[in-house]
Amino acid sequence: MKTIIEPFRIKVVEPLNFTTKEERQKRIEEAHYNAFNLRSQDIIIDLLTDSGTGAMSAQQWAGIMIGDESYAGAKSYYRFKEVVEDLTGFKHILPTHQGRAAERILFTAICKPGMVIPNNNHFDTTRANIEFQDTLALDLVIEEGTQPSLNHPFKGNMDVDKLKATIAEYGVEKIPLIMLTVTNNSGGGQPVSLENIKAVSAVAKEHGIPFFLDACRFAENAYFIKLREEGYADKTVKEIVQEMFSLADGCTMSAKKDAIVNIGGFLAMNHEEWADKCRNLLILTEGFLSYGGLAGRDLEAMATGLEEVVDENYLEYRIAVSNYIGDRLRKMGVGIVEPPGGHAIFIDARSVLPHIDPSDLPGQALVSELYIEGGVRTVEIGTAMFGKRDDNGKLIPAAMDLVRLAIPRRVYTQAHIDYLLEVIEAVYKRRDEIKGMEITWEPPFLRHFTGHFAPKK
Ligand code: F0G
Repeated sequence: MKTIIEPFRIKVVEPLNFTTKEERQKRIEEAHYNAFNLRSQDIIIDLLTDSGTGAMSAQQWAGIMIGDESYAGAKSYYRFKEVVEDLTGFKHILPTHQGRAAERILFTAICKPGMVIPNNNHFDTTRANIEFQDTLALDLVIEEGTQPSLNHPFKGNMDVDKLKATIAEYGVEKIPLIMLTVTNNSGGGQPVSLENIKAVSAVAKEHGIPFFLDACRFAENAYFIKLREEGYADKTVKEIVQEMFSLADGCTMSAKKDAIVNIGGFLAMNHEEWADKCRNLLILTEGFLSYGGLAGRDLEAMATGLEEVVDENYLEYRIAVSNYIGDRLRKMGVGIVEPPGGHAIFIDARSVLPHIDPSDLPGQALVSELYIEGGVRTVEIGTAMFGKRDDNGKLIPAAMDLVRLAIPRRVYTQAHIDYLLEVIEAVYKRRDEIKGMEITWEPPFLRHFTGHFAPKK
């Protein structure tokens, strides 16, 4: 087998700004040891997110120039609509400025206080938008999906028995919608099998409950199906994508992921009555039906990105990157969530820093060391993000302390990835010297975005 190479060559480059270790030590102190407070100019490899950070193709940039900026009925809107229809088959397609706008519109239209929405794992913004409607956001991922080191081809699957039990417990009238997030971001970027999508779809149909996909990473999910699920090796990714969507009644989409654009999203569905409500809300806060808070050029770039993302040379390279990082880390002895996900690798900080008690934020400590060592920005998904306080104000550790390395699409080369691995290795070698962290200031909500931290003395 020959090396799987980047399936593109580079026409436009963005210079990196190199910093010294001493400078980075100073920058992270100034940022109160919170990577969200760093300036991007002080970062060498930015793995904070794969959202909106992808590199657009020459075709997409060409689309930017021919974007039709008409307020209503723009050519770019019709092109976007045709591409989404071709992939999803959904009747009503509403552009939105990003994924959470689609979520807000959908849940505002369909939720009533006391309702329940099951998912494999809700992403943070999905959960927040559901809870904002006084509706319960339930996570029903399979048991295997909650065990980081366990290997399973479809750790994003929903536990169908738990779904049936949930319907029996709350009743159909309390469940306006069933969702599946593909791939399951909060569960480690793990895919959902077509068998599971079919099973969830069948239960939903049997009870007359609409079934939606949170489709942000639909192409990565489809590629995993092609690689791992029996009977799909000879299907094209596009065929698999079409089959996935054919089992659902609608979707929310952040185009900042698998449409490889810097901004954009959509909400799509077959449900006539909901679509009417959603269109009203769209016009109220996002924009007219044919642009939904975006520019015509954004719609053009989204349409092209959606065509490019199902290219199998692209997907082979995309998944090869996370597998490559996963293989190297495993060989180094660094614990990760297994198997590597589509868009990200999650390092198990507790296994790397076993001498740091989870209440002393091993994930946050690792994030700051990776930055100091090599200018790599990652994000903690652990106690700094989710740890709650007990009645005495004591921090209760989260279930896991993970560090996410999200890989932007088409941005970094293999040499960048090798550099990243060298940085991780250097930190790993001196792991015994790394100290835990404490919280020195925190806001009432969403501590990880703006909170202040410091190394423990
Ligand atoms: N659903 C999933 C599964 C996501 O991963 C995200 C965003 C959203 C919905 C919301 O989309 O950002 O366009 O409003 N995930 C990003 C991340 C932010 O870093 O994982 P959005």
